[in-house]
Amino acid sequence: MKLLLLLITPIYIFAAASFITEDEYASSLYKNPRGIGCDKCHGADGKGLLVAKYVSNGVTKEFKGPDITELGFKVFYEALDTRKSGMPRYFLTKDEIETLYKYLHKEKK
Ligand code: HEC
Repeated sequence: MKLLLLLITPIYIFAAASFITEDEYASSLYKNPRGIGCDKCHGADGKGLLVAKYVSNGVTKEFKGPDITELGFKVFYEALDTRKSGMPRYFLTKDEIETLYKYLHKEKK
């Protein structure tokens, strides 16, 4: 019986997952992309966020996540596929990057 449950449960989880809309999926990927959420640095809407202010050698500096809602797909893709200063390295698939891109650029379709 236990074995049967073990076999059936993943099917239920999979079925339930397919009921979320594309937008809900994109939103959850944005907040939880197998690593620190994009929203933590780029803001809930991707319009950018001031993450921290600090003083280095007597100079006040800012750590900001830039606005990522006005980019071409190539720039967007490359930022997520290569290491950038200040930006964590993610291991997202092309489909996932496309989902995030569409999510952040949906007004301009
Ligand atoms: C720890 C903070 C942080 C997190 C989390 C983060 N980013 Fe960034 N991101 C940055 C910073 C800082 C830059 C600017 C880096 C640079 O200019 O070299 C950046 C740059 C970018 C750029 C390039 C912008 C441009 O104009 O070239 C894109 C696209 C981007 N991030 C998307 C994302 C996405 C999507 C996620 C989630 C999967 C994410 N970022 C998570 C901090 C972050």
